[in-house]
Amino acid sequence: MEISANTQALAYLVSAILFILSLKGLTHPASARRGNFLGMLGMAIAILATLAGREVQSYGFIIAGVTAGALIGGVLAARVKMTAMPQLVAALHSFVGMAAVLVAIGTFLNHQVAGTLNPVLMGELSAGIVIGAITFSGSVIAFGKLQGLISGAPVRFAGQHALNAAIAVAAVGLAIHFAATGSMVSLTLMTILSFVLGFTLIIPIGGADMPVIISMLNSYSGWAAAATGFTLHNNLLIIVGALVGFSGAILSYIMCRAMNRSIVNVVFGGFGSESGGGEAAGAVAAEKGVKTASVEDAIYWMEDANRVIIVPGYGMAVAQAQHALKELLELLEERGVEVKFAIHPVAGRMPGHMNVLLAEADIPYDHVFEMDEINPEFASTDVVLVVGANDVVNPAAKSDPSSPIYGMPILEAGKAKHVYFLKRSMRPGYSGVDNLLFYQDNVSLIFGDAKDTIEKMVTELKGGGH
Ligand code: TAP
Repeated sequence: MEISANTQALAYLVSAILFILSLKGLTHPASARRGNFLGMLGMAIAILATLAGREVQSYGFIIAGVTAGALIGGVLAARVKMTAMPQLVAALHSFVGMAAVLVAIGTFLNHQVAGTLNPVLMGELSAGIVIGAITFSGSVIAFGKLQGLISGAPVRFAGQHALNAAIAVAAVGLAIHFAATGSMVSLTLMTILSFVLGFTLIIPIGGADMPVIISMLNSYSGWAAAATGFTLHNNLLIIVGALVGFSGAILSYIMCRAMNRSIVNVVFGGFGSESGGGEAAGAVAAEKGVKTASVEDAIYWMEDANRVIIVPGYGMAVAQAQHALKELLELLEERGVEVKFAIHPVAGRMPGHMNVLLAEADIPYDHVFEMDEINPEFASTDVVLVVGANDVVNPAAKSDPSSPIYGMPILEAGKAKHVYFLKRSMRPGYSGVDNLLFYQDNVSLIFGDAKDTIEKMVTELKGGGH
């Protein structure tokens, strides 16, 4: 069935509205499922309207491509572990970047044969190729760093920024030459240089900063899609590209603000190292006399507490401790203890990381609180359980101007009567700095994998406690 251009435009309008409602839904965990559903509906309408349009000349290649893509995507999505989500997202952005490059080159060749090339079109094509190629190679490097295929340590060398600037200027110069002359040589060189630029821009950035970079690349992939939309005269692609471009940029900004760093500092700062710090800090800390505690000690205070606040962090994701936490929550509530979860905006390694994991374990949303809501409650809390979090409760962010996390707002866990840290060693978190809270009188560390420790707590509570 072939639809008219007007019907197609109407369908695109409906899709665009659904995409905007989808983004709105994704702003809160409780409405995120609806948001996802609206996005899927919008995409289904967009695909059907495109397939039924007049531009499609044969369905053979389209069906083959969609089937292969859907199979690979379906298998990957079903298998991916929550902790590997950032690299899956990076891989997906690389596909968007490559698609933009291929569509632009394909469009150029078509118009060249038809003799319908013009400078405006070639300007659009250049934008698609440059942004798409940077997105592709940058995302491949981000994927490699997060997957551990490439060293996560910041790779720095002399003259790095000058080299990047020179490549960028050369690529733009070639783009202008290509738009003016249609030269194949300029097109080829511009494409190669843009791929190289994505590589040289992202390789120096520390693995620890990759989530911000991924959100930035997400934004680039949106602009690449918008450029493709101009090339193909597809309004929906322009709208969707702009939505992705802006939401990625806003998300990068929110993440940077929550870490009290500028995007310039992330891109040029080389923050974080592969291991997140060394054992040396552990030795120093042990000398300073950090207290350790047992599971029994913690349960002793928790089972008679009025209020317990749980602060999850990256270590909860690594240990996959969320299901055990759900059990702990239920057992404590049976004993009349009020249990709340405190979420820092940059806990974990991607936006909403903790919320997604807690939701996966069916921990009710009304138990989960944002930093600003819960901070006033720590002072009247009996026990805080810090489950694999570190930086997000480190008072150095407030008191030590020389600390790399100085200025980052923190969860004020240290104000509670008793604080127990569940972690495996004295190693610091992502920022690589020692946690001043460890040395406070009301704080103890319980060493071990977070899931194992929580499971022991559950067993202890089931067994009637001490
Ligand atoms: P971190 O400060 O990174 O601390 C995580 C802690 O988890 C580590 O100290 C580690 O100690 C512990 N851990 C790891 N595996 C564990 C396991 N199996 N069992 C128990 N503990 C385990 O985490 P956070 O407090 O969530 O802070 C997040 C950090 O990431 C912030 O500095 C933030 O700026 C940064 N960051 C976040 C984002 C987003 S968007 N969320 C993006 C970029 C950067 P051991 O090794 O001793 O076990």
